[in-house]
Amino acid sequence: MAIFKLQINGRAYQADVESDTPLLWVLRDNLGLVGTKYGCGIAQCGACTVHLNGEATRSCVLPVSAVGKSKVTTIEGLSPTGTHPVQVAWDKVDVPQCGYCQAGQIMTAAALLKRNPKPTQTEIDDTMTGNLCRCGTYHRIREAVKLASESTATSSTPSKTSKTK
Ligand code: FES
Ligand code: FES
Repeated sequence: MAIFKLQINGRAYQADVESDTPLLWVLRDNLGLVGTKYGCGIAQCGACTVHLNGEATRSCVLPVSAVGKSKVTTIEGLSPTGTHPVQVAWDKVDVPQCGYCQAGQIMTAAALLKRNPKPTQTEIDDTMTGNLCRCGTYHRIREAVKLASESTATSSTPSKTSKTK
């Protein structure tokens, strides 16, 4: 066991865990940030996606010892009020079904739009195809990413996609 100091959502955290503990479990079990979900545990589904210095990263295969001084952003920190343009678009399109995969989908989409604010449909498809959805919301996901890329509008309504347990 060792103490790891982490920068998450603009706050300092620390966790006393084994060095090979995946960041996902530190977030969920040690720090109570349960918006990030476990799906496969082998970097195949995207449910656990967070941002590491703004890059979409699968936290289920990232040992906490590899995080270092990187800035971690989870769904809870994407926008404190749920008004990130991707979250606003998600609400407008009413993307979620069961909701389980949606935090990972949103984090992947937000990272895409940060590095490429106006992606083509092919770029959206190529990026989002790595995030699985058992409910088959793929069409609405792509529609919402497109809408977010076209809009700079924000909403004051907290997102229902930022609070799932
Ligand atoms: S839980 Fe990490 S990619 Fe599936
Ligand atoms: S909304 Fe149910 S798994 Fe994607």
